[in-house]
Amino acid sequence: MSDEVEEIKNRLDIVDFISQYLTLKKAGQNWRSLCPFHKEKTPSFMVSRDKGIYKCFGCNRGGDVFTFAMEMEGLNFREALELLAQKTGVPLLRAKNALEYQQEKDEKSRLYQLNLLTARVFRKILLDHPAGKGALSYLKERKLTSQTIKKFILGFAPSGQGLEKILQQKGFTDKEIQQTGNPTRFTQRIMFPILDVMDNVLGFSGRATRADQEPKYLNTPETIIFHKGNILYGLEKAKSEIKGQDFAVLVEGQMDVVSSHQASVENAVATSGTALTEDHLRILSRYTQNISLAFDSDDAGQRAAQRAADLALEYGLNVKMIVLPASFKDPGEIASQSPKLWQEVAKSGIHVVDWYFQKAFAPYKQIGLGLDSLSKKTIAKQLLPVIKRLPDPIERDHYIQKLAKNLAVSERTIEEALGKVKESSAKQTKTTLPSKSQISVQKYLLALLLLSPDLWPKETLSEIFTEEDVWQVYKTGQKMYNKNTQRDFKQKVLSNLPSNLKTKVNFWLLEAEAKVKDSSKEELQKEINEIINRLENIKREKIKQDFAYKIAQAEEKGEIREMKKLIEQLSEAFKQEK
Ligand code: GTP
Ligand code: MN
Repeated sequence: MSDEVEEIKNRLDIVDFISQYLTLKKAGQNWRSLCPFHKEKTPSFMVSRDKGIYKCFGCNRGGDVFTFAMEMEGLNFREALELLAQKTGVPLLRAKNALEYQQEKDEKSRLYQLNLLTARVFRKILLDHPAGKGALSYLKERKLTSQTIKKFILGFAPSGQGLEKILQQKGFTDKEIQQTGNPTRFTQRIMFPILDVMDNVLGFSGRATRADQEPKYLNTPETIIFHKGNILYGLEKAKSEIKGQDFAVLVEGQMDVVSSHQASVENAVATSGTALTEDHLRILSRYTQNISLAFDSDDAGQRAAQRAADLALEYGLNVKMIVLPASFKDPGEIASQSPKLWQEVAKSGIHVVDWYFQKAFAPYKQIGLGLDSLSKKTIAKQLLPVIKRLPDPIERDHYIQKLAKNLAVSERTIEEALGKVKESSAKQTKTTLPSKSQISVQKYLLALLLLSPDLWPKETLSEIFTEEDVWQVYKTGQKMYNKNTQRDFKQKVLSNLPSNLKTKVNFWLLEAEAKVKDSSKEELQKEINEIINRLENIKREKIKQDFAYKIAQAEEKGEIREMKKLIEQLSEAFKQEK
């Protein structure tokens, strides 16, 4: 597969391809346009021909021809591959021909129709038929209005036979009924149709109406149109609010979603009875980079929230946690009992790392000096992996400081401990493309140096590059750098990097190019010097802080000789610097 992908990328010019959808204007070495993925007045969507990538500096979306086709056309990877293979004439090993495509499309649309008809039958029974009376009064007890019931096409499934007859009368075959996962399987259940963002009915979730009925929720099994791992319940109704408010509220259950929307919290969505997956996050990130998790308050809900938060953090999203007022078991309950309160609470998320801090410190009455060493160790063990996972260096630094302060130890100690945290407990993000549009200062500096090799500094800069990726690129550049290699320096360095790092560096370069597009050599030189100074200052401040801490410790223990030695070392260190 990957040979095919490479071949397609070689043959397809990304500028030509994207030009079919957008009006691209030349801007320096790159092309620019209004972003198709978010609303904006000034263009921040950039395309680079030689790098084969695009990136929007407004909404952070970026990628190559494949991701563009996927996002623009709503395709999955395989479909995008087939589309682009057709365009470029690259043969695929197992490609579908046009006829097979059409057949599959027709087949799917029959199944959508079948499901829609089913949903309407169920709704009619719920609202108008004696068999739905009990279920209807149950939903009314839970404060759902008829308007909400109609909006979400909620229904009631009494028993399968009636439905089967109607479907057959309307010309659906037994095979088609089976292919939708057979909706006649639902009996005595309140039905929640599950839609995609185009409002196609993909399947159902049916809630038990009696306490002894198992399972509590019965879902349509996996079919050719229903894949639980990439469906967010309610997204078709929530998507424009999510975009507008620029955040999504992720809840656990269908009832939470329905009640939230009725309470005017219309940016709420739920996974459909499964754990959160990367696919869910990929879909959500089309609409926003910010998600707030509001899970059930019981232990199971809190554990699920933690797993979901970890995954979303790794994915590079901004994650907040919504803590429910103590007397409520889940968002649905607040939403139905007190819509006003839920509107406020839904906006009250705290940063996920602050949430972890709260949880870790909760068992202890004191913070700082009042904690004994064992408690400190226990707390650190919980929080270090969380901090380590943060992709943003500024954010990471913020929490290193906070943890150092709350445990009354030096930041240096926290950093050292952080270095020892295993990668497995702080898994790195799997996506190769950086999801933040603001690259770190270190990355920016390195990109500037690659773009203008004549400004590559003579003295070594290794001290200031503390980010692993940046350090690796710098090292490669330093090794290759000599007067004669200045021509094509950037290309030479790139070709010596592992391919996933190369992809990342291309994004740093694109962002740096966009920033310094109109700068003169002098301005560039000035920018580079300023950044180097800034990073060196940060480094110096760190060293000073560490010394100050060690000196204070020695003083506390009455180790006068040690103290003097440290003070000498400190002044020595800074003499050399000047
Ligand atoms: P109410 O109890 O009616 O308020 O519904 P709820 O949505 O709050 O249910 P709960 O908190 O028990 O579960 C949350 C979500 O998990 C549900 O909406 C379902 O999507 C899913 N779920 C719950 N029970 C089951 C089950 O037995 N099987 C499956 N597949 N999913 C379930
Ligand atoms: Mn619940």
